[in-house]
Amino acid sequence: MGKVYVFDHPLIQHKLTFIRDKETGTKEFRELVDEVATLMAFEITRDLPLEDIDVETPVSNAKAKTLAGKKLGIVPILRAGLGMVDGILKLIPAAKVGHVGLYRDPETLKPIEYYVKLPSDVEERDFILVDPMLATGGSAVEAINSLKKRGAVSIKFMCLVACPEGVDAIKEAHPDVDIFIAALDEKLNEKGYIVPGLGDAGDRLYGTK
Ligand code: URA
Repeated sequence: MGKVYVFDHPLIQHKLTFIRDKETGTKEFRELVDEVATLMAFEITRDLPLEDIDVETPVSNAKAKTLAGKKLGIVPILRAGLGMVDGILKLIPAAKVGHVGLYRDPETLKPIEYYVKLPSDVEERDFILVDPMLATGGSAVEAINSLKKRGAVSIKFMCLVACPEGVDAIKEAHPDVDIFIAALDEKLNEKGYIVPGLGDAGDRLYGTK
C-alpha cells in the first residue's frame, strides 16, 4: 500500500499559511507556491541513491558522493501543477518535464486526458507527478493511469494540500504510488473544494477569477 508523507518542515508550514490566506494576491501566491515546491523537492529527494566517485580537490584526491540511480521526470497536471515546476527545477535542473492535461467530461464528470507529452525514456525515469490540490483524486488517478499506460514504472505524487477522499482514491487505484503533501485537510465541500484548503489553486496562481 502506498504511503502518505506529510512534510511538516516549519518553513513549508509557515509559507503554506500565507498561501491559504485569501488576502494573498496573485504575485505573492505564485512566489510562495514556487518556494514551497522547492522545499518539498528537497524533502522528496532525501532518499535518492548516491555513489562514490573520485574527485581531485585543490588539496588532494577524495572519494565524494554523486547522485546515482534513475533520472528524474517532473509531470505537472495542467494547469495548476505548472505553478510547482520551476520551484522543483531549481533543485533538480537536469530533470525532464512532461505534461498531462485532463478535462472533465460534462456528462460522466470523469477526467479525460486531452494532452500527454512525456520524456521518451519513460521506463527509465522516476517521476514526480505534481498538482497543488488533491481533492476527489479523480485527476490524479487518471494522470497516473496516463503515465503508466506509456510505460512509467516509478511514480510519486506531490501536492500542497490533500483531503482524505483524494488520498484514499490514489491508495485504492494505485497502491504503488507514494503521496507527499504539505497538509492533510479535513474534507471536501459540496462544490468539490478542499476545506479549509486555499480556494482554486489555478485561479489564484494565474489571477483568473
Ligand atoms: N482544486 C482546487 O484548486 N482547489 C480545491 O479546493 C479543490 C480542487
